[in-house]
Amino acid sequence: MDPAAARGRRFGHRRVSAALSTGFQVPSHRRELDRPGNRTANIHVSTCYSFSVVSLGSRREEWVPGGVSVREAITSVARVAKRDGLLGLAKRTRDHWADARECREFLRSVKRARPAGPEQVVEMAFSSPAIRPFQVKSEILGLAQRVSALRPRTLLEIGTAEGGTLFILAQCADPHATFISLDLPAGTFGGGYPTWRGAIYKKLTRPEQTLHLIRGNSHEAGSMEGVRNLLAGSPLDVLFIDGDHSYDGVKRDFELYSPLVRPGGLVALHDIARHPADVGCEVDRFWVETRGGFRNEELVENPDQGGKGIGVLWV
Ligand SMILES: C[S@@+](CC[C@H](N)C(=O)[O-])C[C@H]1O[C@@H](n2cnc3c(N)ncnc32)[C@H](O)[C@@H]1O
Repeated sequence: MDPAAARGRRFGHRRVSAALSTGFQVPSHRRELDRPGNRTANIHVSTCYSFSVVSLGSRREEWVPGGVSVREAITSVARVAKRDGLLGLAKRTRDHWADARECREFLRSVKRARPAGPEQVVEMAFSSPAIRPFQVKSEILGLAQRVSALRPRTLLEIGTAEGGTLFILAQCADPHATFISLDLPAGTFGGGYPTWRGAIYKKLTRPEQTLHLIRGNSHEAGSMEGVRNLLAGSPLDVLFIDGDHSYDGVKRDFELYSPLVRPGGLVALHDIARHPADVGCEVDRFWVETRGGFRNEELVENPDQGGKGIGVLWV
């Protein structure tokens, strides 16, 4: 039995996870994705939350891969302290703390005045450094308007990072939509976002929506399988590809996941505008090769902006 399953058995599938705010590499338990009925008790012990318990419950919710046991969290802290020293650890904790404070303020502002319509949603996303999208405002507004008109019930985002586009797309989707986010696990070797942000992302969606966070490499079979399991035969309405920007990377994402999109749905690719050669982003090359096969739109504020730009393919 794999260790994750053993832990699940020990807690009778009531898993207690403690997510320290340090964002260290933790083993992902992607196999547990197959058990959406897991009763999960999540205790997010976070220095970002002044060591307060921010969530304790045995709610019926899917397991968020990337959660860590207390033992794993302590091991991670020890590993970073050894690598970067106590000063490095303290600095990292301080940065996460500041980040968490901004996230909390943003969530409060959303709660105070839920945005209505794509324009307000985009304005709100750009108003906070906590989740600021890696996008040109007019371009993501164009996508938000199209998504809003489509009212998707199933969405997949590859590349969530700080959650800016997750927030925008979810707010523009059907109020009961299912949103799947796929991003690399955070940690020593890079990745999308620290573990504790997963709890924040749940709150970036609308109250009746379901968010699944898969933390894995989109090109790996396990990630693809995770997406398929979560969709359980339903097609995707919207696929947003903003992950690996190499030519082979974006091509692979497109080949793997675009067949899951229903006819009439849309696939959006970020970074289709021409980049300087030394940047290493080759989405523009893939876009030029691919767009002809579909009804397509280019949302590019300025063709000479040297990157960004969103390409929309109507499948
Ligand atoms: C440009 S950021 C996404 C920005 C986000 N969509 C926004 O606009 O706010 C790219 C993200 O893709 C993730 N990524 C890169 N390669 C990936 C892969 N092979 N599988 C999953 N995620 C990947 C990175 O970890 C990073 O978080």
